[in-house]
Amino acid sequence: MKILVVGGGGREHAIIRALKKNPAVSAIFAAPGNGGIAADAACVPIGATEIDKLVTFARENALDYAVVAPDDPLVLGCVDALEATGIPCFGPRANAAIIEGSKAFSKNLMKKYGIPTASYEVFTDMSAALDYLDFCPLPAVIKADGLALGKGVIIAPTREEAKIAVRDMMEGHIFGASGDKIVIEEFLTGPEVSVLAFTDGNVVKPMVSSMDHKRAGDGDTGPNTGGMGTVAPNPYYTSEIALRCMEEIFLPTIHAMNAEGRTFRGCLYFGLMLTPDGPKVIEYNCRFGDPETQVVLPLLESDLLTIMRACTEGKLAETEVKFAEKYACCVIQASNGYPKYYEKGFPITMTPETATHTYVAGAKLEGGRLITSGGRVTGTTAVADSLEAAVAEAYRLAAGVSFANAYHRTDIGRRALAAKEG
Ligand code: AMP
Ligand code: GLY
Repeated sequence: MKILVVGGGGREHAIIRALKKNPAVSAIFAAPGNGGIAADAACVPIGATEIDKLVTFARENALDYAVVAPDDPLVLGCVDALEATGIPCFGPRANAAIIEGSKAFSKNLMKKYGIPTASYEVFTDMSAALDYLDFCPLPAVIKADGLALGKGVIIAPTREEAKIAVRDMMEGHIFGASGDKIVIEEFLTGPEVSVLAFTDGNVVKPMVSSMDHKRAGDGDTGPNTGGMGTVAPNPYYTSEIALRCMEEIFLPTIHAMNAEGRTFRGCLYFGLMLTPDGPKVIEYNCRFGDPETQVVLPLLESDLLTIMRACTEGKLAETEVKFAEKYACCVIQASNGYPKYYEKGFPITMTPETATHTYVAGAKLEGGRLITSGGRVTGTTAVADSLEAAVAEAYRLAAGVSFANAYHRTDIGRRALAAKEG
């Protein structure tokens, strides 16, 4: 089988490594991939959103299957376009990817079908939003409607800050057209849990839960990033909570999407908050999380390609999705300054042992050398029999990655370990 993986980050590297375990896979192409992925797949210089070029490439090379990993090509209809040319895909069509592509859509869906989430108002008119901020509860959570690289959420402790955020989005267009419509919602509290789930539109098979570390600095300080590290499973996500989430959130969401004529097939990511009133949805993503994938897939014992094809073909009910009863930790090494301004172009070295545990994100090959080309550069994952051992081992292995201007959080897993002990 010849497979195309659309995307070029650490998540895609983890997906490619897992797909390669299936002996039926004869070739994997990554578009665009990256300098590190090039060791595991043939990288094709086509951007993830260049849908016409992806379709031409897939047809000309008679590819058998495609996995569309990032949000933007999914929202733009990459799966629809590949399917139209006869190539089966893993990932939702555009009419279902809207569950991530529009926060107003997902909030309205949850309200209509009684799925627990923060209460909210949607605004397209700035003065109405500013008026609402005169009396709404604080802190106010302000979200751009569309995709914003995971940065479209502002938590404003005061009315003044909330108004600045609204003006920045609706008048200053800091997130482009994504901020023409905004959602202002209630501030929730409680531990956050990421649950990625396979679905074929009929059944949902959740993967092992995980915990992201979104802030740039130790102790959850500094700006929000795409994620600086992860652990799995998430100790707050007990089997009792998992059952409740299946009944109150996962199945109702799949049924709601079907009822709307927007059947979701692929990986649906539930960003949950375990509030004092029970689990609530903070956000849906229409894809695997990054860096959640880098801890979840290393724990998957079943074959990823078999599961993905079962999602495409509506056969997930009879397909095994089994995870190891172990723990995983991923430590991201980023360019100093990320998520704001950072320098790039520095050579990266890795010990051979570290390289086999490391997924490459922001790096390219230049003259045969791997050099930094992005904010998040590498993610190093360890699997062990205890969370403590996985964290220690991930840090030991991550020390084998070296480039100028690198930084990482030193406390990935600390909160999870404290929760396990407490
Ligand atoms: P999102 O991009 O929707 O994942 O939001 C980024 C982060 O903002 C989340 O991981 C939460 O930590 C926080 N957040 C989003 N919505 C809320 C909310 N309603 N209450 C509290 N925190 C929130
Ligand atoms: N790690 C959060 C995300 O993938 O959106």
